Amino acid sequence: MQTPTHWLIANWKMNGTAQGVREYINAIGPAVATLPEAAAFVYCPPAIYLPVADEALGANTRIALGAQDCHAKPSGAHTGEHSALMLKDSGCRYVIVGHSERRIAGETDEQVGAKAAAALEAGLTPVICVGETLAAYEAGDTNAVLNRQCAALSALDLTRCLIAYEPVWAIGTGKTPTPEEIAAVHRHLKTVLGSTVAVLYGGSVNAGNAREILALSEVSGALVGGAGLTLHGMEPIIAALRDL
Ligand code: PGA
Repeated sequence: MQTPTHWLIANWKMNGTAQGVREYINAIGPAVATLPEAAAFVYCPPAIYLPVADEALGANTRIALGAQDCHAKPSGAHTGEHSALMLKDSGCRYVIVGHSERRIAGETDEQVGAKAAAALEAGLTPVICVGETLAAYEAGDTNAVLNRQCAALSALDLTRCLIAYEPVWAIGTGKTPTPEEIAAVHRHLKTVLGSTVAVLYGGSVNAGNAREILALSEVSGALVGGAGLTLHGMEPIIAALRDL
């Protein structure tokens, strides 16, 4: 299989049912099949539904499965947690780490780095989220925040990771940075992390803005929350990627 140049990742967060997961996979399959080989589609349902999703996918290799988080340790007394190996065992190829909704709940930069390292060790591709809060954005501190978050990633082989730039203030709000701002931040991240690192954009990506955002040469795809919950919301974003 060709190494992708672009990724579209649907993060379902804490939404859906087993039946909804099956229906989504069946509904979105034909649209995903129209994507070129260089575009990967990653579906991240709640962890409990990964086996349901894996079974529903059957022989469909165009949709890859991802998890929304993993623990940094391979096993042990960590009630309620899932190791990266467990996720791999359940059919995952990707795992989101450091999502702002987890950072807000207390996850540190170091923990995010350790989770990404555990994902790589297990053979998963970590999707490492970084991004500034509204206060940091308004104070002009975006790059400083990103530099701090990226410093915890220095030991990782970033050629095997994906970075998702997700301004916290753009997540689920309908607000997005301008295309120029997105391009500038992605260029900054590539300066800090390496020019070949794939950087995706996330935060209120939808039918109305996907074409403009995905067309930016600095952007290697999108991490989609709300709009990715339904075929109706995701199909125009898939079409935008297909038509690049
Ligand atoms: P959103 O979420 O598309 O609903 O803004 C994106 C995310 O949290 O990854």
